[in-house]
Amino acid sequence: MKWLARILHNLNTDDYKVLYALENGMKTHEFVPVDLIACYLSLRKERALSILKRLHEFKLVVRQITNYVGYRLTVHGYDALALKALAESGVIEFFGSKIGVGKESDVYEALTSSGRRVAVKAHRIGRTSFTHVRRVRNYVKRGVTRSSWFPISCKSAEREYIVLKKLYSNGVAVPEPVYWNRHILVMSFIEGEELVNCKFLPEPYDILELILENVKLAYQCGIVHGDLSEYNVVVSPEPAVFLIDWPQYVLVANASSRYLLERDLHNLISFFKRKFGIKLSLSETLEYVTEN
Ligand SMILES: Nc1ncnc2c1ncn2[C@@H]1O[C@H](COP(=O)(O)OP(=O)(O)OP(=O)(O)O)[C@@H](O)[C@H]1O
Ligand SMILES: [Mg+2]
Repeated sequence: MKWLARILHNLNTDDYKVLYALENGMKTHEFVPVDLIACYLSLRKERALSILKRLHEFKLVVRQITNYVGYRLTVHGYDALALKALAESGVIEFFGSKIGVGKESDVYEALTSSGRRVAVKAHRIGRTSFTHVRRVRNYVKRGVTRSSWFPISCKSAEREYIVLKKLYSNGVAVPEPVYWNRHILVMSFIEGEELVNCKFLPEPYDILELILENVKLAYQCGIVHGDLSEYNVVVSPEPAVFLIDWPQYVLVANASSRYLLERDLHNLISFFKRKFGIKLSLSETLEYVTEN
């Protein structure tokens, strides 16, 4: 993304107009016809083609020439539009390096204009497998294809932003959501180590207790994580824990919430038993989390 942030400075107003026109056109076309782009922007076709050629060199668009000449945005093209929105909103001043690669996201560090360190999560749903996506994300409809990654990733980022707002304002230990645009979410940067990578914990029982307290707090807000495990818990030096990665959350009122809560707790209990020899019963833990 750093190279992309640099490219953004080289794009002019017409380049952006074409990118926006493509984004719009892709709601109805897999490849947007050049004639349509030219007509929509009141440009001569040659001018539209020369801009598209430039954008193609920057890897922001790709072309098809089978039935008609048409273009679509690449992942970088969508990233460029979201990054521009971030820059214009004044949220991001400096873009840093990649700090995490999840199955379905890329996470970067960045600085806000006030010098605050933030994490920028670009959702990339379906990067691994759409069959898996449909299984774990109940907000994804049947019949999605590979090209559906963008609207689904936007939905995913929106869901995560909204749920983080609710959890954070209710005191659950989660990153503070800062901004959301398209498929990109900006949140406070969490200093620490993923639980799965913690070779040693001085007080593992206290850490487990802290995690369960937060699962309970989220439950009291009416929310179940749904993908909780040692991979989605960050342990900070204080000591403190943070629960991350929430887009697949379900409401407690949802029929699947009990099953997902049990699975979350089972993952955590098994990890602490395997790694630190701590034995907790699933039924008692479940009772602790769900009792008032
Ligand atoms: N707010 C944050 N501050 C610091 N690092 C973060 C933050 N959010 C995410 N990360 C890092 O990025 C990684 C991937 O983030 P996250 O788990 O949210 O994405 P994901 O793609 O949904 O992951 P998964 O592989 O579990 O599906 C995390 O494991 C963590 O290392
Ligand atoms: Mg994760």
